[in-house]
Amino acid sequence: MEKSLLEKLAGMAIEASAKAYAPYSKFKVGAALLAEDGRVFTGCNVENASYGLTNCAERTAVFKGVSEGATRFTALAVAGGEGEVAMPCGACRQVLAEFLPPEAPVRCVTLDGAVIRDFTVGALLPGTFRLTV
Ligand code: THU
Repeated sequence: MEKSLLEKLAGMAIEASAKAYAPYSKFKVGAALLAEDGRVFTGCNVENASYGLTNCAERTAVFKGVSEGATRFTALAVAGGEGEVAMPCGACRQVLAEFLPPEAPVRCVTLDGAVIRDFTVGALLPGTFRLTV
């Protein structure tokens, strides 16, 4: 993965965080997901007065992509947090593992882009649940 591509995705994730609907937590998160066909799907967290219905930025991006016909993705950037990056939650990790290969890079950055941490999908969720029947 070329460095500039992850940088570009990180910039798009930061931009997407501005659209976060987070009136309850005030915690804005953005995501930018690269599809195998070159399209980039962005997402933000979308909260709800019934808190448990909240959708994370990462899953928003994945669901946007899948609903537009993309099911294979190759890289993700997530923007969230100040001073330290926000890591993808457990639920999002399982969803990412469904649609990205274990070696796919995941770049997490703070909202101001100052802190950058790189992972892979496989490192974020060893022992991914899969149907074994
Ligand atoms: N959030 C995300 O968007 N992605 C994650 O991986 C973790 C948490 C959002 C959900 C909620 O709107 C806010 O961050 C605080 O939990």
